[in-house]
Amino acid sequence: MMNNIIEENGDLRIDFESGAVVMIAAVDDAMGLGRRGAIPWNVPSDRAFFRRQTMGAAVIVGRVTYESLPVGRDGRRGLDGRLCAVLSRRSVAAPGAGVVWGSDARELLERCRAARGVVYVAGGGMVYRALLPQATDVLLSRIAGDWQCDVQFVAVGAPEWQLVAAWPMPGFVLQWWRKSAHGGV
Ligand SMILES: NC(=O)c1ccc[n+]([C@@H]2O[C@H](COP(=O)([O-])OP(=O)(O)OC[C@H]3O[C@@H](n4cnc5c(N)ncnc54)[C@H](OP(=O)(O)O)[C@@H]3O)[C@@H](O)[C@H]2O)c1
Repeated sequence: MMNNIIEENGDLRIDFESGAVVMIAAVDDAMGLGRRGAIPWNVPSDRAFFRRQTMGAAVIVGRVTYESLPVGRDGRRGLDGRLCAVLSRRSVAAPGAGVVWGSDARELLERCRAARGVVYVAGGGMVYRALLPQATDVLLSRIAGDWQCDVQFVAVGAPEWQLVAAWPMPGFVLQWWRKSAHGGV
């Protein structure tokens, strides 16, 4: 019963229940995430999926990933329409509107959950590792090829994780994994 799959004009989105902590990542065949501080592939349909899926929610990123986001018209980085939560042990000055900072992963996660209900963990490698124990779901965009990445995604697989569904999308395959203890769909 896939009653939380929403398709609008052929565009897929999964509607998670409040309290869900969803890791969202694009990985290559070697589970690579990025190279030299950036994502080496260019898959616009995956960027569109990320935007659609995370809209309205809180999105946690590490400081390195935050610094890879484009600067907006106001000269600041962020994720429009979402609460952008940046994990860093440094104190960072003057974040833009819609951006919050935290130095403790669990505390930042709880703050995000209280603010928006559904929390997405959007990398990079260090942040996925830090928050894997709290994750309820993983959305993986599988990009074909080995892109010689220098940062890898944490291992997600059976028996702790179950593949709920997979969908072919333009330029990637989307997989939805769910932590077994969290129950079925
Ligand atoms: N393919 C994808 O879906 C995807 C998604 C996101 C990112 N990426 C790629 O991943 C790469 C970046 O990943 P990364 O692992 O190098 O960096 P990252 O996870 O983005 O950021 C690392 C930084 O976050 C802070 N941090 C991480 N864990 C923390 C914790 N437990 N407590 C407090 N602060 C913590 C630290 O910041 P301070 O040093 O400031 O203390 C740390 O240096 C880039 O290549 C990027 O393009 C890929």
